[in-house]
Amino acid sequence: MAKQEIAPEQLGRSVFEMIGKDWTLIAAKKEGRTNAMTASWGGLGVLWGRDCAMIFVRKSRYTKEFLDASPTFSLNFLDPKTYRSVQNYFGTVSGRDADKIAVSGLHVEEAEDTPYFAEAGTVLVCRKAGHFDLPESGMLPEVQQKWYAEHDDHTMYVGWIEKVLREV
Ligand SMILES: Cc1cc2nc3c(=O)[nH]c(=O)nc-3n(C[C@H](O)[C@H](O)[C@H](O)COP(=O)(O)O)c2cc1C
Repeated sequence: MAKQEIAPEQLGRSVFEMIGKDWTLIAAKKEGRTNAMTASWGGLGVLWGRDCAMIFVRKSRYTKEFLDASPTFSLNFLDPKTYRSVQNYFGTVSGRDADKIAVSGLHVEEAEDTPYFAEAGTVLVCRKAGHFDLPESGMLPEVQQKWYAEHDDHTMYVGWIEKVLREV
C-alpha cells in the first residue's frame, strides 16, 4: 500500500478520534525484532519547539523494552472497520507469548530505520525526545486509585514527529 509523506498539519482528523476512538498500534524495533501493542491513550501536540506525539506505556508491557531500546517508534493508524480484531489482538496478547505480527498477518515496512505497518492508513514516525515515569503524586486521589492501584505505572514517551505517511 503506497504511502506519501504529508505535513503533520495536513492530518486533518481529530486526535480524539484517531487515538481515543480508532486506536493506534505502537511499534518499535529491538535487536532486529519488532513488537507492537495497541494504545488508546496519548496525544499529539507541540513541545520543545516541535510537533510531537505523546504515548503512555505501562512498565509491564513488552513493547516498553522495545521503546527503551530504540531511538524511534511508529504510531500506526489502521481502519478499525477492517482491523478491529487485529487491534484487539495486539491489545490483549503480549509479544512475550506470541509473535503477534506473524499471527496477525500484518506487513512490516521501514522508514527512518523504524518499523511500521503497510496496512496502516496513516503512520507517524517519531524520534524519542524524552521519556518520563509518571510519579504517584501530583494526580487526583481517585485517578491514582483507579489507574495505579497495582503500581503498574505509565511511562510517557515524547516523540518528535519525523515523518507522517499517508496511504495514497
Ligand atoms: C483499546 C486498548 C487500548 C490500550 N491502550 C493502552 C495504552 O495506552 N497504554 C498501555 O500501556 N497499554 C494499553 N493497552 C494494553 C496493551 O495494548 C496490552 O497490554 C498489550 O497486550 C501489550 O502487549 P506487549 O506486552 O506485547 O507490549 C491497551 C489495550 C487495548 C485493547
